Amino acid sequence: MHGKNILFMMSASVACFKACAAVSALVKKGCQVQTALTPNALQFIGPATLQGLTGRPVYWDMFAPRQCGTEHISLSKWADCTVLCPASADVINKMAAGVADDCVTTLFLAHDFAKPFVLAPAMNSRMFLHPATQKALQTLRGWGVHVLEAESGHLACGDDGPGRLAEPAAVIKKIEELLA
Ligand SMILES: Cc1cc2nc3c(=O)[nH]c(=O)nc-3n(C[C@H](O)[C@H](O)[C@H](O)COP(=O)(O)O)c2cc1C
Repeated sequence: MHGKNILFMMSASVACFKACAAVSALVKKGCQVQTALTPNALQFIGPATLQGLTGRPVYWDMFAPRQCGTEHISLSKWADCTVLCPASADVINKMAAGVADDCVTTLFLAHDFAKPFVLAPAMNSRMFLHPATQKALQTLRGWGVHVLEAESGHLACGDDGPGRLAEPAAVIKKIEELLA
């Protein structure tokens, strides 16, 4: 894992706090970790936390003035492995429809499937079991996305059922398997 480039993306879920443990573990393993967030994910996690963990600025505004300006393409070329954790129902459905209206969905549309893309869903059970979400996950699997199993249990909304984000250790294990 040492020296590997990991593009770690997050979308708007309470589980962003849990995903920070996976970001931290990747850094400790010697990976270079670049984070990218949907604008809505900023409601759940502060860029200072991710910048502090990775030592790199967070990418979330495609149109902010930057030296390069085409990170939506260059980051997908840079990454040895791309991870979307947590993946919201919204972003899963958008990705399966080919929508590219923020940096996360645009990076996905620019993804080279010769390299691994890992997705860890996190959402309320009804959103997870909704036919739209299940069909979108099936579509993404068919394209070669590695979809981690959502866990069943107590959810942030108070419900019990499937939709809990996989444990950070399971996310790391999958990345290690794919990069071995
Ligand atoms: C407190 C709160 C928690 C939420 N948690 C989740 C969640 O865990 N998973 C999910 O898919 N949506 C969740 N949502 C809804 C999403 O944030 C919403 O669909 C948002 O538009 C998704 O944005 P994004 O996919 O662009 O990141 C939550 C909303 C709120 C207000």
